[in-house]
Amino acid sequence: MIGFGTVGQGIASVLMRKDLGLTITAIADSRSGLMRDDGVDLAGVLERKRGGFVVGDVGISPMDVVKRGEYDLLVEVSPTNIQTAEPAATFIREAISRGKHVVSSNKGPIALHLKELRRAALSHGVQLRYEATVCGAIPIMHVLEEGLRGNSVKSLHGVLNGTSNFILTRMAEEGLTYDQALAEAREMGVAEADPTYDVKGIDAAIKLVILSNTIWETDLRLEDVVVTGIDQITPDAIRLSEDEDATIRLIAEAIPERGICRVTPRLIPRNHPLVVNGTLNAITLTTDLAGALTFVGKGAGSIETASAVIGDILHIKERYARGA
Ligand code: HSE
Repeated sequence: MIGFGTVGQGIASVLMRKDLGLTITAIADSRSGLMRDDGVDLAGVLERKRGGFVVGDVGISPMDVVKRGEYDLLVEVSPTNIQTAEPAATFIREAISRGKHVVSSNKGPIALHLKELRRAALSHGVQLRYEATVCGAIPIMHVLEEGLRGNSVKSLHGVLNGTSNFILTRMAEEGLTYDQALAEAREMGVAEADPTYDVKGIDAAIKLVILSNTIWETDLRLEDVVVTGIDQITPDAIRLSEDEDATIRLIAEAIPERGICRVTPRLIPRNHPLVVNGTLNAITLTTDLAGALTFVGKGAGSIETASAVIGDILHIKERYARGA
């Protein structure tokens, strides 16, 4: 496992309390690394991390683990970099070239290099999965590839950023100003390291790129998405919308046959299925066979994101692992 922040620690704590038949043979973060072929002592590592100590040996880097570690599957949960996708993209490429499966929660490499990474995985006969990159706990990728198999997806609409949704909810419910609501969101730890990515719609646009490229096998880039954030929304605008039994939500929308791909604040009726509160995410897929389906769930959080990562790991273990 590369990265031992919120998501990595969530995965470790789940594996400590549930026997899922998985062994973590190495962990590395930006400060140190640890390799134990018979399994890392997760309780010890968690205790050291929470105490502010290094988790392992400062002489072992993430790249050492990726290149020399003994593992079947790389769990790549290091911090995201949306400009360069590095160093995560290099870790993923390296693991694939060693014939290892990869599960990532990292938006950078998937948004920027999905086609290339998929091709590499295919040519090395390994799986690349990234459920946790969008909509946290909602298993939307599994739904798309299994439950909705045989459907054509016509459009998608979603609330893909928990921080913006939390801010809009607090402004409507409590009459907070944008700045007050943003301060609360930051305290909750859902916001990105740089919250401008959240409030300017960029995080939602990144997720829209990942979903669109997955569903329609396109090569959409972040620059192709028309983006407006919520940072100009005033308490007055929200109050006026509430008077009309409507509210404002940051909606990500892709309708390929109309050339629409955008993230914008929208006025929507309060009883609309996409009006979810707080840090929840929601996504509506409109399909030819199943009609419209809306999924709602936690869009972030340590254990919730771990749920998505673990779902991917077990999917690979049960279907593709040696001897499965
Ligand atoms: N900052 C993101 C959000 C976290 O607010 O939705 C999950 O990607």
